[in-house]
Amino acid sequence: MMKYLLFALTLVAALAPGQFAGASPDLTATTAPAGSIWLDTLDLSKIEQDWGKPGKCQSVENHPLTLGKTVYAHGIGTHARSIMRIDLHGSATHFDAVVGVDDEVGKRGSVTFEVLADKKNVFETQVVRGGDAPVPVSVDLTGVQSLSLIVDDGRDGIDSDHADWAGALLTLAADAGNRPQMVPSPQNAPGPADPPRMAFEPVSPLPAIHGASVVGSTPGKPFLFLIPATGDAPLTYSVTKLPAGLVLDPKTGILSGRLKSSGVTVVKVTVKNARGSATRNLRIIGGTGKLAQTPPMGWNSWNVWAGKITQDKVEAAADAMVNSGLAAHGYQYVNIDDTWEGQRDAQGRVTSNAKFPDMTGLANYVHQKGLKIGIYSSPGPQTCARYEGSYQHEELDAQTYADWGFDYLKYDWCSYGDVVKGQSGPDVFKKPYAVMGKALAKASRDIVFSFCQYGMGEVWTWGESLGGNCWRTTGDINDSWPSLRKIYQSQNGHEAYAGPGHWNDPDMLVVGQVGWGRPHPSHLSPNEQLLHMSLWCLLSSPLLIGCDMSNLDDFTKALLTNDEALDINQDPLGKPAGRIAMDGDVEVWARPLADGTWAVGLVNPLLEATDGTLQLSALKLKGAQPIRDLWLHKDLGEISGSYTVSVPAHGIVLLKVGKPR
Ligand code: GLA
Repeated sequence: MMKYLLFALTLVAALAPGQFAGASPDLTATTAPAGSIWLDTLDLSKIEQDWGKPGKCQSVENHPLTLGKTVYAHGIGTHARSIMRIDLHGSATHFDAVVGVDDEVGKRGSVTFEVLADKKNVFETQVVRGGDAPVPVSVDLTGVQSLSLIVDDGRDGIDSDHADWAGALLTLAADAGNRPQMVPSPQNAPGPADPPRMAFEPVSPLPAIHGASVVGSTPGKPFLFLIPATGDAPLTYSVTKLPAGLVLDPKTGILSGRLKSSGVTVVKVTVKNARGSATRNLRIIGGTGKLAQTPPMGWNSWNVWAGKITQDKVEAAADAMVNSGLAAHGYQYVNIDDTWEGQRDAQGRVTSNAKFPDMTGLANYVHQKGLKIGIYSSPGPQTCARYEGSYQHEELDAQTYADWGFDYLKYDWCSYGDVVKGQSGPDVFKKPYAVMGKALAKASRDIVFSFCQYGMGEVWTWGESLGGNCWRTTGDINDSWPSLRKIYQSQNGHEAYAGPGHWNDPDMLVVGQVGWGRPHPSHLSPNEQLLHMSLWCLLSSPLLIGCDMSNLDDFTKALLTNDEALDINQDPLGKPAGRIAMDGDVEVWARPLADGTWAVGLVNPLLEATDGTLQLSALKLKGAQPIRDLWLHKDLGEISGSYTVSVPAHGIVLLKVGKPR
């Protein structure tokens, strides 16, 4: 605040007398004063923000822009963290606005606002919270080339950070030749629509087994696992030595039952068809806390349907997961996100709303296909979409989900921020997850526990200790390069904290038809999508498809079903990649695999193709080593010393290097 006051004083002192005098424009007006323009008349698609889409003359949730009960006809409703860059080239003399957290979130949300003129800080607020008085902004822009408007998250994560630049007005210079223009920063410009660097491989008619090669379950609780396998139908399945309590359906490949005891059993699985057979070991681990031995693979409703999800759409998703062939490659969770929740009954038991008439029937429908089903809630009284949360009903909710037949819970911080308002420290972040973790352990089914709190309090350092099977490490992803780049680059260093049973989650996939209720083809370029998929495999991220699986084009299908990439994600060693080296701008991400080889991604964040080099010494490999390109499906022979390859703009080359043990 001090800094802001000092700056304001300096600014006033530096101004020619009369420059501000009495001329403050009416920022609630519908028409801009002569010689000025509303900021919302610029191209808002260039704004980068961590959640939602910028609202033109609206809040980020499409309500009238409202600060301190005053409604503004003009302005931009954004969400932390966000950045707007405006090329002025001297065309403006003044910027005015009123900033604050939109009234739509009540007392939630906490943000800071900052204005940079030619990279110099010319205005900043202290942390502004929901319900605080709005703050006026008035800065001189004479001669300024570039203006940046930045919202940060108040250092407590982005929950409810609905930040308004209300009445945002640019006063133009009398001789303004250029019109101000909203621009992305060069490193955030979308990638070119170059053809994807991949070879389309026809699906082999021969039998092959995919997906997880190790699964865990608590003895006495229901066990379900569909053996993922491709090859011409009909396929028949057989196994050796199943642990007591499990049975196999030889026609469908569904393993089910309840394990009788703890311990590890290695089962030999064989899949046959008229063309031949394939065999692979499946390690079944009985014990408590043994879920998610490999990153969960499946689908979640949010990125495609958001609030428009219904029971029918979830059933259609389960159908599509099987019919499109995705289940045969290892995808198995069908997860409902927010907006299924109804009221609580007289006993406090949560019910589903009219969109979900029969939760038990739905879970059965999904289970009959050998697939599993996921649900969503919040530790707060309300979810992020303002539906019923689990606050003070945790045990009952966990058992209700188990009674319905759910296998996965995404638990989203949302309004819990209100419960702990004014409190800080790691225990505040941990407590609600510890409470639900205990409740889930008591429930009568195994339920994978997915934390969603956007990385607050460095969740990766303690998520495992509270029973987390995965934890979001970032704010929400969207299908834009800035979002993808920021998220993948922020994952470096987190690899040390993940392993079998507990995974970093940089959020769901945004390939295919996505759109949060208004599906459209992903705005990521083909090579950006390859980079996204490959890195999520290298990072051992949960692979939750975010698109409409009933509407898959050939590219998206090939992207989601490359078994060579999926095998990296599901590698039983469970050691995610970190960025082990930089070759100029090219990033080298690598991870060791269970067979003694390495998976390597050469990542090019530049807007042009460039050569990237892998030094074998970075992997501590010596002598000649075999190398294979996993998207070209091609053995490249042996290399010694280093390997150089052209990496597409915003693209990746995914390699497997070294001799298998
Ligand atoms: C948050 C989460 C999203 C989604 C929505 C639902 O934004 O991060 O993934 O679950 O809530 O309201």
